[in-house]
This record gives sequence, C-alpha cells and structure tokens, in this order.
Amino acid sequence: MNIGFFDSGIGGLTVLRDALALLPNENYLYYADTDNTPYGTKTREEVKRLAFRAVEFLVSYNVKALVIACNAATSASVESLRKEYGFPIIGMEPAVKPAVVKNQNGGKRVLVLSTALTLREVKFQDLVARVDTGHIVDMLAAPKLVELAERFVFDGPEVETYLRELLPWDRINCYGTIVLGCTHFPFFRKALARMLPEGIDIIDGNRGTIKHLYEVLKSANLLNPSPDKGRVLFFRSGVPVKDPEVLEKYNRLLRS
Ligand code: DGL
Repeated sequence: MNIGFFDSGIGGLTVLRDALALLPNENYLYYADTDNTPYGTKTREEVKRLAFRAVEFLVSYNVKALVIACNAATSASVESLRKEYGFPIIGMEPAVKPAVVKNQNGGKRVLVLSTALTLREVKFQDLVARVDTGHIVDMLAAPKLVELAERFVFDGPEVETYLRELLPWDRINCYGTIVLGCTHFPFFRKALARMLPEGIDIIDGNRGTIKHLYEVLKSANLLNPSPDKGRVLFFRSGVPVKDPEVLEKYNRLLRS
C-alpha cells in the first residue's frame, strides 16, 4: 500500500522530503498536477475539481493515506475529500500558530507568504481569527514564487528582483517570523535568509504535517512494518514520469 502525495507541481516535494526522512520505508506516489499549475490563482471550485481528479487517480494505485501537500488544495478540498474517502487524509496548514506564540510577547509581527487562494479562503481566515488575538499577523500573496519554482529557478537575479519588489523592506525589521504558507516556498529559503536581516526566522508547516502523518498511521496500525527502504513513483497530471532528466531533477530536490 502507498501513501499518496499531491500538489499543483513540485511544491509538495518539500513535504515529501520530510516524509522520506521520518518514514523512509514507506512507499510513496507523488502526483504533480503540472498541466494545471498554478492552483493559487484559480477559484476554489476549479481547485476542488482538480484535487478530486488527482485523488481519484492516486486511489487507483492503492493508497492507505493521502497527504494534500498543497495549502491551496487543502483549503479548497480537504473537507469534501474526507467525506468521500475512508482513508486518512492529511492537509497542510500555514504555521501561523507557532509563529504567533513565538512573537506575541516580543513585540514583533508575523508575515505569512502564501497564494491568493489560501489567503482568502475561510480555512485560513478562521485560523488567523482563532490564534491572532493580538493582531500581529500580516499576509502577502507571492504567486511568482510558484512560477519560478516550476521553472526550477530557486535563486539568482530573477528571484532577488521579485523578492525586492514583493517584501515590505521599509518595515522589514518589525517582523520576527516569516511563515512560508505555500509548499513551493521552502525552495527559496536560502535566498530569503540571505536577503533578510538577521533575527527574522523563516518557518513552514512541513515537519508538523509529517509528524501528524506518522501519528495517524501509527494509531491506525498502518505503518509499513518492512525494514526495507521504500520507493517513490512520480506522476505528472496522471502520466507516469519516465523522462530520466525530470526524474533526476525531482530526486535531486528530494535529496536537497
Ligand atoms: N504549492 C501549493 C500551495 O502550497 C500551490 C501553489 C500554486 O499552485 O499556486 O499552496
């Protein structure tokens, strides 16, 4: 049995990377919906339809659990998917809570970078209303980071120019934490860390999601008992990835 992962593209590889570190002997299916990327600029209904299509495909390969390795798809579809399927479904959630806990007494603010869809969805709005009692959370959509990542451009002049335009540099020191609320964004951690002043931490929700996956699998007795290392099969919008160059790029990202 497999653990299915899906994302609009390569972003979910940042989550799968953590899964491979914690649960190395599981077998994984990774579905990158590259024909339909990006999700973050689409409507909720469109993304929900695409998410159902991806999950239907993964189910045909036998999954025992699913990770929606995409914040936008989680916002648009996690509840409906859970109603439809009986296996455990783990979604993403921007790490707003730990960021607020860390900053609420220190006088610094929190900046959440994500996509337009995630930021306007009720799931995120509810999360902020629940945890941001001191009103220290700001948010910003960064759609071009998804586009750059899909071109495997993670650093360099194009990334720097965009980040210079995007971030509020005139008040950057009022932030204590930047939350990466899109699974494509951890690919830019190095560029961000270099450009930001020291003392601003950059966090994502990936490890928390994978810890949750582990606990859910454990309590449902679904962990793979085999001591052998598992494998990952990749698909792009339903087509098995066979091109060695693409496979090498994906595997390199999983090792990075
Ligand atoms: N990686 C996705 C997320 O976490 C979606 C990015 C996109 O396709 O816009 O939201």
